[in-house]
Amino acid sequence: MKIAIIGTGYVGLVSGVCLSDFGHTVVCVDKSEAKIAQLNSGKVPIYEPGLDVLLAKNASAGRLSFTTRLSDAVDGAEAVFVAVGTPSRRGDGHADLSYVFAAAEDVAKALTGYAVVVTKSTVPVGTNRKVAEIIHTANPEAEFDVASNPEFLREGAAIEDFMRPNRVVIGVEAGRAQEILAQICRPLFLRDFPIVYTGLESAELIKYAANAFLATKISFINEISALCERVGADVKAVAKGIGLDGRIGSKFLHAGPGYGGSCFPKDTLALARIGQEHAVPQRITETVIAVNDGVKRRMIEKAVNLCGGSVAGRKIAVLGVTFKPNTDDMREAPSLTIVPAMIGAGAKVHVVDPQGRREGEALLPGVTWEDDAYSAASEADLVIVLTEWNEYRALDLAKLAQAMSTPQMADFRNIYDRETAMNARPR
Ligand code: UGA
Repeated sequence: MKIAIIGTGYVGLVSGVCLSDFGHTVVCVDKSEAKIAQLNSGKVPIYEPGLDVLLAKNASAGRLSFTTRLSDAVDGAEAVFVAVGTPSRRGDGHADLSYVFAAAEDVAKALTGYAVVVTKSTVPVGTNRKVAEIIHTANPEAEFDVASNPEFLREGAAIEDFMRPNRVVIGVEAGRAQEILAQICRPLFLRDFPIVYTGLESAELIKYAANAFLATKISFINEISALCERVGADVKAVAKGIGLDGRIGSKFLHAGPGYGGSCFPKDTLALARIGQEHAVPQRITETVIAVNDGVKRRMIEKAVNLCGGSVAGRKIAVLGVTFKPNTDDMREAPSLTIVPAMIGAGAKVHVVDPQGRREGEALLPGVTWEDDAYSAASEADLVIVLTEWNEYRALDLAKLAQAMSTPQMADFRNIYDRETAMNARPR
């Protein structure tokens, strides 16, 4: 089956590569000539483990190609996936749908036969019906149906999540469209991964509700973590103790410096706006957002307190700047709030990250980039573990402490045992 994917961002590229690995013929489209040239030469513009190998395999098998010409990709495709960005609109937090609507119009003009137009981008309730209207207006002759197929990929584990999903959600009304989508997902169906068919609105809302619920778990444990610190409890023990209850579950209960990335901050904000728009305020989600902002402020205070009330003139080493490990993505990373606050307060900040430098250089002006944790920590007054990359999970704490001017660590990811860290300090 021929499939077109509009947008070679994170979701579009991973989906295109994985669908071609299912045996479908996939053509991915992007407006950026540079990106398409890069992809055609086998280079992956993002850092995602395993994506380059899978891309090369399917491109050389002739099942996967890249173009800037949308009409070539859509011509003869039975399914067209729209996977363009829906960033938060500046000022009001609404999802910006201009890219989705522009793609719908372009697709409408390019359709040559029946196709199901599937929205993969995260879009507010009602968007798929608007997409249908746009296509119909732009090309009244077009034979098509719309469907919603939200994505649940985690950056850094995206291929695994695509190939072994907890579930696939498909919002679809027309039988013909459902058959095509069932065929596309057949390799997953055959391996017993659940495929949930719903209406359009439910599928649209499932995506927001899932991300908001996960963000709620994180804000919840972050608030509990603050309480743990005050009363002398260990948040890791508390998370374990509650997470073993199957009704709660142990995942997404890692206390940290607040959630970041391209999804949770944007989607919680959008869900809150959708609630307000429909006069059904999403108060839990609104609080989750406020708590997340507060966590970052609390982390800054913690660092300042560890430096005796002022970081002015102090050297601070920051380990990890991406929003989470195994990605080079800096979007809404806690580092973007915490590092500038330290610099603004007069600290000399030295940072290190296995993948973050390329994007981070422009975003974190005034920092000194280092090649490894120990050189970053040299003569430092404080080491902050900000992103839990594997190399920062197994540091030689004695070596680190030896290198520092004042051996102090702010372990924002709760990796190290307090006693072990204290014992690692030079006597
Ligand atoms: C998230 C969801 O996990 C995916 O299911 C979803 O498809 C994706 O958003 C999306 O909407 O496209 P992602 O943003 O890649 O995926 O990253 P996560 O692994 O979910 O982490 C998000 C943030 O929460 C990170 O900043 C991470 O450090 C933080 N986090 C996560 C915690 O602070 N504690 C946890 O226990 C888990």
